[in-house]
Amino acid sequence: MRIVTSVAAMQRLARQWQQHGTRIGLVPTMGYLHEGHLSLVRRARRRAGQTGKVVVSIYVNPTQFGPKEDLSRYPRDLKRDLKLCRAEAVDVVFAPSDAEMYPGKAEGRYSTYVVEENLSRSMEGASRPTHFRGVTTVVAKLFNIVQPGIAIFGAKDWQQAAIIKRMVADLNFPVKIIVAPTVRERDGLALSSRNKYLDAEQRKQATILHGSLQYVRKIVTRKPAPASKLKQAVKKFMAAAPLGRLDYVEFFDPETLQPATSVSRGTHMALAVFFANTRLIDNGPL
Ligand code: PAJ
Repeated sequence: MRIVTSVAAMQRLARQWQQHGTRIGLVPTMGYLHEGHLSLVRRARRRAGQTGKVVVSIYVNPTQFGPKEDLSRYPRDLKRDLKLCRAEAVDVVFAPSDAEMYPGKAEGRYSTYVVEENLSRSMEGASRPTHFRGVTTVVAKLFNIVQPGIAIFGAKDWQQAAIIKRMVADLNFPVKIIVAPTVRERDGLALSSRNKYLDAEQRKQATILHGSLQYVRKIVTRKPAPASKLKQAVKKFMAAAPLGRLDYVEFFDPETLQPATSVSRGTHMALAVFFANTRLIDNGPL
């Protein structure tokens, strides 16, 4: 496994591979890897084939964090991440520094961003106004640096995956986007690097996210219900987790992200819940 930290070296390597017709599969991450990330790595390997190359990028991207968010305390353990990647037979870990990814940013010279203007407005985008600008910018940069034919994203961040697909279509990136299912703990909590922030009691109550999804599923399998009613129902249901504070719950079309007024089977639900300063998200089809 090679560890590449410079953009130029990564681009050189990608160019060599492409000259030989080698398939490149990219898994973008912010590190502190867990089974959710590793499921994407395995999918990349299956898609790229034994002769293909799997690249995992590990980069805590500062432009997708708000000024009051957890950038400085975001969990990092590169040594452990590298070990996990080695065990998955990853070909290259691309782990650049901030200076490499955003040259001149400290001096105020960095000034180009990629902005998706429609799907980014709701849900995560409403709660975190500059978040998706940071995500689309860094992912566009990673595509230019690694030049993958396929890139794998998790359904855990449903809106993110939808926005990346939109960006790829709108800007003609020659990349196939694959969305892999959410990996969960046994009690339903979606794996996340941020779960590490939770204390024992918060961790117990964090099952309320998945619990809410199951609860609404049960209601709408019988018959469709108005979104406004279901929002109220979820707010009430949240009383079972007094340490949690609901940030939003939304019902929408899984492809267009258009809000649904009437919710039925197949409508998508997403929610975000704060446990103290820790913000957790989950989503799924109903
Ligand atoms: P990060 O949160 O590290 O997630 C990296 C990838 O892993 C994303 O595609 C995410 O959806 C996926 N993932 C996270 N938890 C998962 C789970 N429980 N099951 C399945 N997949 C899961 O998302 C980001 O980083 C960043 O925004 C990034 C795309 C790397 C851009 O900086």
